[in-house]
Amino acid sequence: MKLPDFFESDRAAIEAALDKFLPPVEIQPSSIHEAMRYSVFAGGKRLRPIMCVESARMFSDPPDAAIPAACTFEFIHTYSLIHDDLPALDNDDLRRGKPTCHKKFGEPIAILAGDALLTLAFETLAKSPIEPQRGIQIVSEVARAAGTVRGMIGGQVADLEAERRPIELLALEFIHRSKTAALIRTSIVAGAIAGGAEEQDVERLRSFGEYIGWAFQVVDDILDVEESSAALGKTAGKDQAQQKATYPALLGLERSREVATELAGKALSELDFYGARGDRLRQLGEFLVARRA
Ligand code: IPE
Ligand code: IPE
Ligand code: MG
Ligand code: MG
Ligand code: MG
Repeated sequence: MKLPDFFESDRAAIEAALDKFLPPVEIQPSSIHEAMRYSVFAGGKRLRPIMCVESARMFSDPPDAAIPAACTFEFIHTYSLIHDDLPALDNDDLRRGKPTCHKKFGEPIAILAGDALLTLAFETLAKSPIEPQRGIQIVSEVARAAGTVRGMIGGQVADLEAERRPIELLALEFIHRSKTAALIRTSIVAGAIAGGAEEQDVERLRSFGEYIGWAFQVVDDILDVEESSAALGKTAGKDQAQQKATYPALLGLERSREVATELAGKALSELDFYGARGDRLRQLGEFLVARRA
């Protein structure tokens, strides 16, 4: 399933901006810039930056002011994937249809490429052409979402510590909301703030982002079981092999699909308030749960 056509122009703008913000390979040390570019341009779906831009568009069209923030999320997301794939974490060889960063460049450069992308993410965010107060608010939201307290790193730690152990639903929810929903939610929140949204709108979209991001990871777990490595561009069946705490492992596939649908329903209901103005985010939300890769 492809994204609706009108997202293609968002994607093109984002690809161009990512290229602009990444240091060229010619700048020394070349090896790190090559590794950063390799992983960023290996072929991700760009869902987080597209959501950021479309969230901004609800409040200012064209949503150009949100482009640096959109790139911030793709840089942080790509860093999280590089580190997630390291032998010390999920130990994966395939990512975005290519050898993982550490397979291609070695572990030391892969670790540093991840670190560098996280740092570049904040440098990029600082280039946002928005009011300083809004910029500071976004910096704080992004740092928390990527961090240890209900953020991405906190979720990754809980994910590792839950391997090969029985888990309760509440703990599994914590993992998914932290490791994945936090960053997706914040891409939407940051877009809204960059676009000039009022606080009530930011909170409505925060709730949309939380539920859709949570549903997104439930679907990721389902696809790991149902799809092939070729379709996913990453090794399928890994979660069971590593005895990861996932929705299918705890609840079964059928109930997991129901949960994903329920969560997406809660997310989309937050957009009702906006009528047709919410159409693009609505389509994006629908895509996130219907996708097959
Ligand atoms: C994969 O995210 C990692 C998760 C948080 C589930 P995506 O499915 O968005 O990966 P890319 O960016 O398209 O490669
Ligand atoms: C990763 O979750 C979430 C991150 C923060 C990177 P997974 O470990 O399930 O992601 P994939 O399946 O390797 O993409
Ligand atoms: Mg993982
Ligand atoms: Mg993984
Ligand atoms: Mg997964």
